[in-house]
Amino acid sequence: MPEPTKPLLRALAGEAVWPPPMWLMRQAGRYLPEYRAVRAGVSDFITLCTTPDLAAEVTLQPIRRYGFDAAILFSDILILPWALGHGLAFKEGEGPVLPRLRDAAGLAALDPARVPEAVAPVMETVRRVRAGLAREGFSQTTLIGFAGAPFTVACYMVEGGGSRDFAATRAMAYADPALFGGLMDRLTEATIVYLSAQVEAGAEALMLFDSWAGVLSPSLFRTHVIAPATRIVTELRRRYPGVPVIGFPRLAGLMVGEYGSVGVNAIGMDTSMDLTRAAALVPDGVALQGNLDPMSLVAGGNALSDETDSILRAMKGRPFVFNLGHGIVPQTPTEHVAALVEQVRAA
Ligand code: CP3
Repeated sequence: MPEPTKPLLRALAGEAVWPPPMWLMRQAGRYLPEYRAVRAGVSDFITLCTTPDLAAEVTLQPIRRYGFDAAILFSDILILPWALGHGLAFKEGEGPVLPRLRDAAGLAALDPARVPEAVAPVMETVRRVRAGLAREGFSQTTLIGFAGAPFTVACYMVEGGGSRDFAATRAMAYADPALFGGLMDRLTEATIVYLSAQVEAGAEALMLFDSWAGVLSPSLFRTHVIAPATRIVTELRRRYPGVPVIGFPRLAGLMVGEYGSVGVNAIGMDTSMDLTRAAALVPDGVALQGNLDPMSLVAGGNALSDETDSILRAMKGRPFVFNLGHGIVPQTPTEHVAALVEQVRAA
């Protein structure tokens, strides 16, 4: 395997690159006027995700503005259930709305045979972003592909959308392990297919978003977060040994120690994590990524620079990727992002 040269890939390979490579979760989005302009021209969000020239354009927008070390494919974690034939709509101001999966018939209706054709536009987006990065001279920027982790995707399918506590999903995991386990197995296998296709199309690194991992007890965390991530990472590693994987088990708390053994190259830290303590729980070669509070980026000024500084001080000398602890929010001023980039680049 040749040594990687791009800063993000070097950090994911375990090198303490300094200043650290940086990108921001949800870096393409409504805080950018150029994103809102593209978004205004399409009827709905799924159309944006499945129109390759537009999806590639919005993927590149934050790279042109800020020169981040990673471009993340513009899509959504709920495109996979949509591709499996489960309904999906994004209601303005409400977030995602899906049919509720609550019985064996709902599970049997998921059709893995639909996935390759349904996600073909996403693969075309990946190809166009790779070509766009090369054409526009971003030779140091890494293209990250992604999927939702099975548990988080299952949460939205069982609840029928977002939820404060995902109570129905958690209750189903205990009360009907055959049904919930069946759903998890289907999603796990479909995720391997989906991420493999992204690599074949040109993704250079992958990220698995498990946004709701933190609602589970330790035993369910092992069954529904650790086990599927291990299966996915092991299979991807076998197929594509040179493609690093970043796991993001949000709000995992102490369970991050066990997550360190699933085989990921890096772990995304949510805003609540103390980075020094987290680093002590995971193997030294596993990079950490995170974890600036997105609200400090809204506030700006000394709050932003102090928080940024403490993250940089904690992570100097170990493999690290600067990021937020969760996605950037729409009310974030673009000048605050510019100030953050300047500070991290000067570290
Ligand atoms: O990071 C990026 O720039 C890449 C694109 C990306 C989006 N969603 C675009 C998006 C990624 C990686 C995601 C992941 C995602 N989607 C997650 C995991 C990360 C997290 O935030 O916890 C989850 C849980 C979802 C599901 C989802 N998609 C919700 C709950 C919503 C509605 C909330 C909101 O912010 O509007 C979405 C919509 C969505 N996904 C938008 C974007 C830019 C906003 C839609 C719009 O612009 O109209």
